Amino acid sequence: MIIDKETKIKLLKAAYEAKEYAYAPYSNFSVGAALLTKEGRIFTGCNIENASYGATNCAERTAIFKAISEGERDFLALAIVSDFSGYTFPCGICRQVISEFSKEFQVIFQNNKGEILSLSVKDLFPYPFNEKDLVK
Ligand code: THU
Repeated sequence: MIIDKETKIKLLKAAYEAKEYAYAPYSNFSVGAALLTKEGRIFTGCNIENASYGATNCAERTAIFKAISEGERDFLALAIVSDFSGYTFPCGICRQVISEFSKEFQVIFQNNKGEILSLSVKDLFPYPFNEKDLVK
């Protein structure tokens, strides 16, 4: 599925807006994400940290869990942004969560030069643990 540039920009804008809600007093690293469903709905998320660091939830998972908890399962794209100068790639846990719900969606990044990068989930996470691995 090809996502047009206008849609990518719209999704990135939603991710930047979501970043403003980040709760990141420990790392001071704010992240925003925006997830586009097949029906055109956008679910946003930010990172939510915790004094018990391991309880932190990344922006990507916040957006995905919001969407899943509202009955959405079919996604086209996920935009991820931060204040970092380069592209903000998702952590391993988020890649695993993304792969659970992606058939073929695009993950979209933007750096501080305004350059946009789109990767397929397959490129980002070629060897997920999935339901096939649960068969004994
Ligand atoms: N973080 C995200 O929310 N998404 C990413 O893609 C990378 C890392 C958060 C987790 C933590 O709150 C902070 O960024 C620093 O790791």
